[in-house]
Formats: sequence, C-alpha cells, structure tokens
Amino acid sequence: MILIVTGATGGIGSCVVKKAMQSPAVEKIYGMYRKEEKFNHLFAHAENKLVRVRYNAAQSNENLQFLHALREINCETVVCVHTAFCLEPLLRVGTYLPEDIKKNVSVNVVNMVLLVNELIRLHHTKGIRLRIINIDSGAADRPLEGWGLYCASKAYANMFLKTVRLENPQVGIVSYEPGVVDTPMQEKIRQTDSAVCGQTELFRAYFEKGMLRSPETVAADILARFVENWDVRHFKEGYRTE
Ligand SMILES: NC(=O)c1ccc[n+]([C@@H]2O[C@H](COP(=O)([O-])OP(=O)(O)OC[C@H]3O[C@@H](n4cnc5c(N)ncnc54)[C@H](OP(=O)(O)O)[C@@H]3O)[C@@H](O)[C@H]2O)c1
Repeated sequence: MILIVTGATGGIGSCVVKKAMQSPAVEKIYGMYRKEEKFNHLFAHAENKLVRVRYNAAQSNENLQFLHALREINCETVVCVHTAFCLEPLLRVGTYLPEDIKKNVSVNVVNMVLLVNELIRLHHTKGIRLRIINIDSGAADRPLEGWGLYCASKAYANMFLKTVRLENPQVGIVSYEPGVVDTPMQEKIRQTDSAVCGQTELFRAYFEKGMLRSPETVAADILARFVENWDVRHFKEGYRTE
C-alpha cells in the first residue's frame, strides 16, 4: 500500500506520517509538504519508506507536477490522508484582502479538487484500489464569526466528496472529524481577536481546561480505522457521524 499524506509537516499530518512509518501495512509514504526546514527537522531520521514531495498548494502548477507523476505508481492500493488546509483569513467579511481570499480558495478548494480528480483518474485508468480520508471540521456545518472562508471551504470539501462517493461507490471515502486537537492551528485560533472571531474565548477555555485531543491519538485513530483497516459506516466519522 502507498500512503499519500498532504500537510505532512502539520500537527495531525506529521503524526500520521510517523505512525505510518511503523506500520507494516504501509510500503511507501509520499509526504507532501511546503517547508523544507520543517520537514527535515521532523523527519531527520526517516527511512527510505518516506518519499518527499515539496509543493505549495497555493500554486496549483506545483501540485500538478506531482499528481502527474502519480500516474507512474505501481501498487494495488493507494490511501490518501488529506490534512493540508488554510485557516486564514480569520477576519470579518469586508476586511479580507483579495490575495488572502485567493490563497484560501486555492489551497482548500482548487488543490483538493485537483488531488481528488487525479486520484480518481488513477483508480479508473490503473485499476488501483483507492481510499480518501478528508479531515473534517464542525465548521463545515456551523457558521462561525470571522471564519467565513474556512467554514465554507470545509462545507465545499464535504459536498464535493459526497458527490465523488456517489459516482464511485467502490472508492473508500470518509470525512473524519477529529474534535479539537492540540496543533499549530489551535494556537493560531487562540491568538485571534475575540471581537473579530466569536469562538476565540471558547477555544482558549478548551485549552486551559486541558480538553484538546493529542494529534498522536488522532493519528493512531486514523491509521487503525482508515489505513490499516476500513472501519467506516458513514460518510462522516469521528467526533460526529452522518
Ligand atoms: N486542530 C484542530 O482542532 C482541528 C479540528 C478540526 C479539523 N482540523 C483539520 O485538521 C487538518 C490538519 O490541521 P492541523 O490541526 O494539523 O493544523 P496544522 O498543523 O496547521 O496543519 C495544516 C497543514 O496544512 C499545510 N498547509 C497549509 N497551507 C499549505 C500550502 N499552501 N501548501 C502546502 N501545505 C499547506 C500546513 O503546512 P506547514 O506545515 O508548512 O504550515 C500544515 O502542514 C486541517 O484540515 C484542519 O482543518 C483540525
């Protein structure tokens, strides 16, 4: 099995890569990342099992190069854990900068669709068994002040993947909601101005009360349920099911 992890240097993504390195079910991991130094620091002693794929999801051309290279892959099963996501801008609508809008949509929407389109093509043209694990968020179903683009792009990802699932019932597709996880993303959320983002105080309280899940626990859950096995009953799994 080949495992592709987008956001391989992120809080959840890096833990998925580390756990997968220990898993006999995984032959090779394609770790997709954008920051060389961060990747080197995290995976200084990685074995050959980990293949580096540097790309910036805000620039779709870079992503396409790797996606085209995927066509050369020879294996029975490809599993993709998609964690790369852009949280910003965390601002009220009317104060966004045009370049921040474009970046958010490029990473969260265009990049995700390019990736899924290429994976489905691979499945059809090479007969490769495929599973796609998206990281979902409660923000997909609940509007949050200051989080307009994040909420909307999480909802977009779910509706797009539900359609892909309808068209391809033989492909394993799940949107896994991890709960509130102790990663750099939560650090950014706690630093936002509570007058702009209505949920800031709530997330600070979760952190102060020690209520955050560890990314290691979340990664272990992802590996056990969706990579080494396929323990899926609903489109949405994890914190809430649907
Ligand atoms: N933490 C939570 O409480 C929580 C809750 C619900 C859902 N989630 C979801 O979980 C997933 C992982 O988030 P996380 O909590 O692990 O946060 P994180 O540590 O901030 O991870 C986000 C990842 O996305 C990557 N990324 C962002 N922009 C990119 C770009 N232009 N090109 C390539 N990669 C890019 C980041 O790369 P760098 O490493 O280079 O920054 C990072 O690896 C996200 O989809 C998030 O929405 C998280």
